[in-house]
Amino acid sequence: MNTRIAITNQKGGVAKTTTAVNLADGLQRLGRSVLLVDSDPQANATSHLGIDRKRLRKTMDNLYYEADLDISEVLISRNGFTGLDVLPAGEPLAYAEQKLSGVPVKEKLLSERLAEIEGNYDYIIIDCPPNLGFLTMNALVAATDMLVVIKPEYFALEGLMRISQKAEMIKQRINPDLNLSGYLLANYDGRKNQHKAIRKAVKEKFPGKLFQTIIRTNARLSNATSQGQTIFEYDPKSHGATDYRNLSTEVEERYGRR
Ligand SMILES: Nc1ncnc2c1ncn2[C@@H]1O[C@H](COP(=O)(O)OP(=O)(O)OP(=O)(O)O)[C@@H](O)[C@H]1O
Ligand SMILES: [Mg+2]
Repeated sequence: MNTRIAITNQKGGVAKTTTAVNLADGLQRLGRSVLLVDSDPQANATSHLGIDRKRLRKTMDNLYYEADLDISEVLISRNGFTGLDVLPAGEPLAYAEQKLSGVPVKEKLLSERLAEIEGNYDYIIIDCPPNLGFLTMNALVAATDMLVVIKPEYFALEGLMRISQKAEMIKQRINPDLNLSGYLLANYDGRKNQHKAIRKAVKEKFPGKLFQTIIRTNARLSNATSQGQTIFEYDPKSHGATDYRNLSTEVEERYGRR
């Protein structure tokens, strides 16, 4: 069985995409075969990997609407990587739910689509949009594991409660195997008291759920994004690369050997 990780948080700008892209490349560098699914109409993960969106004929939205479409028509291999494929997104993905009105059990569509190819990969990493709507639901139904990225700021815990409740509901009703244990602190500055307080609070409120690895604040990570490169390509010696390397190893230890 492979591992399918939905990278979530309904809050915007908490480092979901940064985590999805760099974890995907980190696992690939450990010798795993990885598929990155960009399930956000903003298509940030697609751009972050330097993929020219104007040249894409088919994107994730086509997979939702076109029942007969072969998934290989959407799938692309990233230049220079042997072990990383991508299902790219485009802006029309925002209208997927609307277009599918009348289709029953819509929240299982992604899961059904991925079932066609999941045997080809050790890991499928799904980058979610900043809400708990249709696309995030589809990701959580398709996933074996939910990884919630937490930015250490004041309302983080309230948001965490909401997403945990929603995921628990999906687990009870649709996807009983969904593992809800992966909380990741990102953009963390150990010199800030507020950050330390939030780390402590998450540990106390959600025992055992927090990853040991913490992603520190590191400007090299945002520079890599703007260059269309992962942190391992852009600056393999940076703190950002070290932290995502450690996260990849920890993910492999926690989820990889099922
Ligand atoms: N550890 C970090 N240190 C410094 N900057 C970071 C770090 N992680 C992410 N960033 C920057 O923070 C911004 C938001 O990150 P990102 O796009 O990954 O968030 P997101 O949760 O995917 O956002 P959205 O909700 O819009 O999809 C980006 O500019 C990114 O480069
Ligand atoms: Mg994002």
